[in-house]
Amino acid sequence: MSTVTAQETPPGADLEHQAEFDAKVAADQRIEPRDWMPEAYRRTLVRQVSQHAHSEIIGMQPEGDWIASAPSLRRKAILLAKVQDEAGHGLYLYAAAETLGVDRADLTERLIEGRQKYSSIFNYPSLTFADVGVIGWLVDGAAICNQVPLCRSSFGPYSRAMVRICKEESFHQRQGYELLMRMMEGTEGQRRMVQDAVDRWWWPSLMMFGPPDAESPNTRQSMAWRIKRDTNDDLRQKFVDMSVPQAEKLGVTLPDPELAWNGERGHYDFGEPDWVEFKQVVSGAGPKNAERVARRRAAHEKGAWVREAATAYARKHQSAEEATV
Ligand SMILES: [Fe+2]
Ligand SMILES: [Fe+2]
Repeated sequence: MSTVTAQETPPGADLEHQAEFDAKVAADQRIEPRDWMPEAYRRTLVRQVSQHAHSEIIGMQPEGDWIASAPSLRRKAILLAKVQDEAGHGLYLYAAAETLGVDRADLTERLIEGRQKYSSIFNYPSLTFADVGVIGWLVDGAAICNQVPLCRSSFGPYSRAMVRICKEESFHQRQGYELLMRMMEGTEGQRRMVQDAVDRWWWPSLMMFGPPDAESPNTRQSMAWRIKRDTNDDLRQKFVDMSVPQAEKLGVTLPDPELAWNGERGHYDFGEPDWVEFKQVVSGAGPKNAERVARRRAAHEKGAWVREAATAYARKHQSAEEATV
């Protein structure tokens, strides 16, 4: 770890501050916004937290598409609550990013101009209501694997936001699994819908953990800074180990012929995701990239009057307060 930190220390940096920062991180204490931090640490966090925030907000779209046609009042209420939770996650995370000195309006601009990325998973279409269940089970399940270790991330506002987010993600995962259980108890057609959704979402879910460790250049530094606590491949393995027994209980087949228990390793072996597809989707050429960003842009433009009204209201009250001083 010391070599990595040394490489990141720019010449002439405040060595005393750097030593204090390193000691805090090594002791698993939290770095707070007012603390000194290396510029590269701040930049890495801005990138990670804002991309995470964008993912929560864009992630409202695939399921949001199904709110109007949910098959019952109960399903509609659950889905509404879940999609609203995702909006809340985005807001906590934009707020955490703002403590690093960036502006939320600017981050939104970067998203709608395609200058910042978000999770590749949300660029796939949700074709049937079974997708709502599979997104909850697999996509929120993968999010939990990714996010639980982030509750111990070294940056205070990020780690605290993650605690609350993880509690809500666990509800998301359960509602998805419960929906699939009910569908599997239904008709043959419903069971086929579930299997079809599993076939389409399994591989993209594995890609949510990012590229293999050997091709993830930022992982080593992020782990040294304790922003990230586990490698992409370790998290992917954890997700597979968790999902296989759940799939068996549900009665669905995971679409991977290489999936098999390896007694020696004490883990499931599994096949390689299509990394060419992953790169295409991340770089904007996925089935739904253009539509997701266009809808986010339209919503942002449609909401301009709310931001203007809120600013005018704040200004009015500020001048009233100043007048009374
Ligand atoms: Fe979320
Ligand atoms: Fe979620």
